[in-house]
Amino acid sequence: MNKIVNPISNGLNGKITIPPDKSISHRAVIFSSLAKGKSVIKNFSKGKDPLSTLNIYKSLGINYEYKDNNLVIISNGTLTPPSDILDCGNSGTTMRLTAGVLAGQDFNSILIGDKSLSKRPMKRVIEPLAMMGAIIKSNNNKAPLEILGTKLYGIDYISELPSAQVKSAVLLAGLFAEGKTSFTEPYLSRNHTELMLSYMDAEISTNGLTTSIKKSELQPKTLQIPGDISSAAYFIAAGAIIPNSNIILKDIGLNPTRTGILDILNLMGADIEILDKRIVSNEIVGDIRICSSELRACEISGELIPRLIDEIPVIAVLATQAQGQTIIKNAEDLRNKESDRIKTVVTELKKIGADIEETADGMIINGKTKLKGGAEIKTYNDHRIAMSLYIAGLICEKEILIEDFDWINISFPEFERLFAELLI
Ligand code: S3P
Repeated sequence: MNKIVNPISNGLNGKITIPPDKSISHRAVIFSSLAKGKSVIKNFSKGKDPLSTLNIYKSLGINYEYKDNNLVIISNGTLTPPSDILDCGNSGTTMRLTAGVLAGQDFNSILIGDKSLSKRPMKRVIEPLAMMGAIIKSNNNKAPLEILGTKLYGIDYISELPSAQVKSAVLLAGLFAEGKTSFTEPYLSRNHTELMLSYMDAEISTNGLTTSIKKSELQPKTLQIPGDISSAAYFIAAGAIIPNSNIILKDIGLNPTRTGILDILNLMGADIEILDKRIVSNEIVGDIRICSSELRACEISGELIPRLIDEIPVIAVLATQAQGQTIIKNAEDLRNKESDRIKTVVTELKKIGADIEETADGMIINGKTKLKGGAEIKTYNDHRIAMSLYIAGLICEKEILIEDFDWINISFPEFERLFAELLI
């Protein structure tokens, strides 16, 4: 489906609730499937990616039903051999975390993905899992992954990548391994796995950049999923750059390992405020109020990168409207996402008149630029490129056309409906 985005003349105003966090939704399904009994997941994501995870765990023997808008998962605590290959669709989180789970089972399984996922690197999980004893055959370290379930042993793994998917794959394998498994990362990546496993009574502890886990039985729980800050990011950016905007985004997950975008907006001088901070199911949640204001450029690098990795495409849009030169560095892993997000965001923003250049590990953006629009935008099968360019389209002089806009359904099917609510 192609989408025409027209520039808007009025600001965004009102209050919306942002849909559930994708990362936490995946984990809620996976961990509940490993817990013996009935788990209740309140506010489960309707994105295609978390549904890929749910389908896979159904094929691995769990039962589920929707009751009063909640997802109820019933499991006897052990997975059963699947009768078919397991399709992860577009979801790297599904594939990498599930590889960690399946490596230590007493049955074999095959994980496949769509065209984009089949091109993404899997060595990052295959390598540490193999050190634990896992037997994983792959297509040159890419999907399909054929996993021959076997006995695993704990390791002390020092990762060069600050990757929550790799960390989670190793920790999940550690749930089934003999002895203690430790994972050390160079910078703190999102820690939803650690928080949720601890909430479900796993033997897990974190000390600085190292997390350790021992074989444990998970307890079924009621898990409330907060709003996704990565989805909120599109509205935060729009609120910051569309003149006369004043919006409130409700019930957003504010885990500090995810709030790099808020730090950046503060550095840029945005008019942003957190309201009603509270703890829900071991995660910090709150509301975000954002009003439009003048922005200034900033540098984004180092430990900030994993804390805003998925928001960089929309931060690039923000930077086109900030006074000065914004430099994004140390973000080379963006080239391994659903698309090569350094190349795709730079190419598409250039088409509409942004002053933006690609570097090996990031990009340089000069602002403030009046975006011209009047171009056809490609999405490269990447939901975040589609939504980021939509935001850019709202402040262009002329309309833009975004091809294959329905890729947004991967994480955020409610995107347009919520936008419409702020335009009234
Ligand atoms: C995710 C971790 C990040 C992020 C992805 C979701 C997760 O990937 O980009 O969208 O849920 O663990 P990496 O671990 O590859 O950085």
